[in-house]
Amino acid sequence: MNGSCTDTFIRPHLRKLAAYTPIEPFEVLSKRLGRAPEDIIKLDANENPYGPPREVLAALGDMPFPNIYPDPETRRLRSALAELNDIPMEHLLVGCGADELIDLLMRCVLDPGDSIVDCPPTFTMYAFDAAVNGANVITVPRLDGFRIDVPAIERVVRERRPKMVFMTSPNNPDGSMITEADLLAVLALPVLVVLDEAYIEFSEEASRMRWVMERPNLVVLRTFSKSAGLAGLRVGYGAFPAGMIDYLWRAKQPYNVSVAAETAACAALTNPQYLQDVRDKLVVERERLFGLLQDVPFLEPYQSSANFILCKVVGGQDAKAVKDTLASEHGIMVRHYAKAELSGFIRISVGRPEHTDALIAALRTLEQPVAAVVEEE
Ligand SMILES: Cc1ncc(COP(=O)(O)O)c(C=O)c1O
Repeated sequence: MNGSCTDTFIRPHLRKLAAYTPIEPFEVLSKRLGRAPEDIIKLDANENPYGPPREVLAALGDMPFPNIYPDPETRRLRSALAELNDIPMEHLLVGCGADELIDLLMRCVLDPGDSIVDCPPTFTMYAFDAAVNGANVITVPRLDGFRIDVPAIERVVRERRPKMVFMTSPNNPDGSMITEADLLAVLALPVLVVLDEAYIEFSEEASRMRWVMERPNLVVLRTFSKSAGLAGLRVGYGAFPAGMIDYLWRAKQPYNVSVAAETAACAALTNPQYLQDVRDKLVVERERLFGLLQDVPFLEPYQSSANFILCKVVGGQDAKAVKDTLASEHGIMVRHYAKAELSGFIRISVGRPEHTDALIAALRTLEQPVAAVVEEE
């Protein structure tokens, strides 16, 4: 059977789906750049350069029953999270990263042809998962300074009746926070509001997880990938209103969180001092990096409440060329975007102080404009 015949088995809306472009695995990247992994400075995926507390590796080494399926209800982790966040564990569900929970929510809420509201520039998985689920994406672009456009969201909700609105605080890629007034205005609308707090630990604000106990149209998502340094183990969690969470339990894969993932997340929570110290170091480094980036003549950085800084590339430099040169000549990975609205920007994750120093030294060598590398088809 040839390829085009096989296509006919695929659901029509998926035949048009553009593939998500994930970050390259470390080993693949290392081979492509011709550098050992330890000679690569990875500032492109908002990962935590310090990793998790040492209790995590010890617990993984001592895992008693890797041969037995995991707890489908992740009771140990949910109970620890409930205590930490002062919220009953009945409101909590754990997933294979926050990514899984975004998809699970959509599978429970959206019928094909339903709509979500997406406020770009923002995390691209909302639009991607909506497309996978056969939903429409209503785009309400952010205003200057990346603030959400509440009047436009209100209009769209009134006129087009979307089922879900995605809010991200701090927002990826710029690190701005949603204001309380804006969040309350969106929560007042007849729509399910998903508040993604993947980076909340790096901000000065408390999580709004507990709000789900009072608000039937709010879901709050969080993750162990960023401040807890467990991106590779895939653990995210969400707080859901009581009337909704039952359906997510019914629809989720029974063994979505592996024994290793739950073990690692529980172990990370046993050392809150380490997590706080790492968070504080990254916040101090973010502010130092911001100051240094302000002095780079061809970059305009944006103040951020997360573990990354978005920079507009100005002064005749091409953003993609800057990204490519940092990678090929210096082994420093930063994020560049194909999307038109962000094509003139790069996003830099906050690393260790020595990563900042290497990045700034490399950027100084680029002060003469570099031409864009023309990509082959
Ligand atoms: C805003 C936002 N939400 C969610 C995620 C995904 O988190 P996880 O690693 O838990 O799937 C990311 C990852 O980059 C993110 O930027």
